[in-house]
Amino acid sequence: MRVGILTGGGDCPGLNAVIRAIVRKGETVHEDELIGFLDAWDGVREGRFMPLDVGSLRGMLPRGGTLLGTRRGSPYDHEGGPEAVVESFAQLGLDALVVIGGNGSLSVACNLHEDFGLPIIGVPKTIDNDVVGTDITFGFNTAVQIATDAIDRLHTTAESHDRVMVVEVMGRHSGWIATHAGIAGGATAILIPERPFDIEDVCELLHQRHERGRYASIVVVAEGAEPRIGTMRARDKVYDQFGHVRLGGVAETIAHAIEDRTGFETRMVLLGHIQRGGTPTAFDRVLSTRYGVAAIDAVHAGAWGQMVAMHGDDVVTVPLKETVGKTRGVDMSLYHDVAEVFFG
Ligand code: F6P
Repeated sequence: MRVGILTGGGDCPGLNAVIRAIVRKGETVHEDELIGFLDAWDGVREGRFMPLDVGSLRGMLPRGGTLLGTRRGSPYDHEGGPEAVVESFAQLGLDALVVIGGNGSLSVACNLHEDFGLPIIGVPKTIDNDVVGTDITFGFNTAVQIATDAIDRLHTTAESHDRVMVVEVMGRHSGWIATHAGIAGGATAILIPERPFDIEDVCELLHQRHERGRYASIVVVAEGAEPRIGTMRARDKVYDQFGHVRLGGVAETIAHAIEDRTGFETRMVLLGHIQRGGTPTAFDRVLSTRYGVAAIDAVHAGAWGQMVAMHGDDVVTVPLKETVGKTRGVDMSLYHDVAEVFFG
């Protein structure tokens, strides 16, 4: 078969490992011809691609980013865009397309499959871990490790200066990274989008901690966390060219609010794209490899319109239709029954 691969949305550690696994099993077991589209859907619309073979993927397993390049945006944003994708399929003699992406790219994949019957398989990617239908996305584990390493380092400088450190991690709609890194890093409070926060409660936790003789604290905040209505002024929203709210910076507002209310010296750290860069953890390399192998097997099973997913320790496929348009929020029992026990 002639199989295309694309990577869409924000990059994520493990993308190259998925591509490598698809190509390895596709070429050596299924005798496929593989091509990689450049710059996500733009490459499909414009017929820009590169041939992929086992040799061309040598050394890519531990490399972060994506050798194919990635973009946000959808062919549906362009006049005649979806038709251009269909045309590319025909012109290139494509038998299948594997779309490695998060909620945005997977929803485009689902629409193209539904609207035109295109033979597409999805692979769930995002450091945010917010794709419905799978227990985990690759990249998440790496992001949590990076955030935890940063928190570990912040403890010693915070303790030396008796400071509060507000650490902002990614997590647009869900607080998975914040919750896991906060638990792993021993946070005094964890603020997540799923649960609007009251700044007075956060300050109360800090006071309680100081009363016990601990004068340094770490507050972990997901970039999408918002104050409970009426408790604190939220920042004005700024949008990018795709209409997404451009996040990043809530930690600064929170750090000022904490310092003003408590008088405790407070600093903020924004981890930003550091969480998406660099080499994937061993866990993510294994997960990405399993996803890649499962994706090319799904192609040969003709499981069109499905996404590979983890259910427990099993790789399964689930209909894309059941996953798109939704966000998988943090398991609130993990937040309430585990994370909160250590607040304050
Ligand atoms: O990929 C998801 C994500 O990491 C979000 O957590 C974050 O809000 C967004 O990407 C940032 O994207 P960009 O690369 O467009 O700044």
